[in-house]
Amino acid sequence: MSRTLTIPRPDDWHLHLRDGAVLRAVLPETARYFGRAIIMPNLVPPVVTGAQAAAYRDRIMDALPDGMNFTPLMTLYLTEDTDPADVAAVHGSGLVTAVKLYPAGATTNSASGVRDFDRVRPVLEKMAEIGMPLCVHGEVTDAEIDIFDREAVFIDRVLDPLRRATPGLRIVMEHITTQQGVEYVKSNAENLGATITTHHLVINRNHILVGGIKPHYYCLPVAKREEHRLALRAAATSGDARFFLGTDSAPHTDPNKESACGCAGCFTATNTISILAEVFEQEDALDRLAGFASEHGARFYGLPVSAETITLSRGDPVTYPPKIDTGDGPVTLFDPQMPLHWRVV
Ligand code: DOR
Ligand code: ZN
Repeated sequence: MSRTLTIPRPDDWHLHLRDGAVLRAVLPETARYFGRAIIMPNLVPPVVTGAQAAAYRDRIMDALPDGMNFTPLMTLYLTEDTDPADVAAVHGSGLVTAVKLYPAGATTNSASGVRDFDRVRPVLEKMAEIGMPLCVHGEVTDAEIDIFDREAVFIDRVLDPLRRATPGLRIVMEHITTQQGVEYVKSNAENLGATITTHHLVINRNHILVGGIKPHYYCLPVAKREEHRLALRAAATSGDARFFLGTDSAPHTDPNKESACGCAGCFTATNTISILAEVFEQEDALDRLAGFASEHGARFYGLPVSAETITLSRGDPVTYPPKIDTGDGPVTLFDPQMPLHWRVV
């Protein structure tokens, strides 16, 4: 029996598109399915000014194939030199949707991020005043904190004090990976949401390390124990509007992943919708896929849910190419290691 599911066109509330040849190769993979995406600013050099955000948006629109319809929602990379008045101006004009906070050294291209959180307080206060969301990479970077504990420690040491010091600031905890992240969102009703990636619903840390090291499953925050994956699946499929999709699809070419010092990031844009439908079906929650992928994030960001729809059909397993080619080299697609029965028709 064939089944179909129609949902509002999804949005991706956390996406890396990169630039140049990789941008041209990966953008259609997202724009085929998603209407809008929050575009991460961790280019080299990072997108720190309104002028840089406008130029990057133009490059994205230039890379969009004819006939595709997609709206990039731009972000600024928060540094200790970011000017509150500039942030307010670019938000007011509609150019920039949110600001991204990377603790310095936390992940790919985060060297210009924040070391001293007191130094960005004026920007955060201005953002609270104007209702501009802050997207947070929630990991401490202290060398003595175990990499598997960095999210939980960040919540206690940085995020909770920051929220108390700046009431009213709207915060998205990006790509949560722990039970503690889920619990923190659930116990704090005000002005707080969280994105969950596709891959963290599928893999735990064994997938990275058992039977040989698998660089294409390495991302940051790194996948945790199985109990955390199960907490994320429960949150994503719960219908709770504070949890929404941010794929964190993060392309790196194979030589950069398959290396003695491989880059962090899973590229999931191409098969994300099929994987999510499979996961939601496994959890008997297909009726909640629309909320997670298409509705909750728009509501958090104060934007309308898409008036367009996509339709998924269930049938024989669908296959995707294992890699996509870019002018800079191949990028391997995330392998969920399970048959995918749902395709977008
Ligand atoms: O795995 C990740 N890749 N996590 C991040 O926070 C950054 C991203 C990237 O830019 O590659
Ligand atoms: Zn990211």
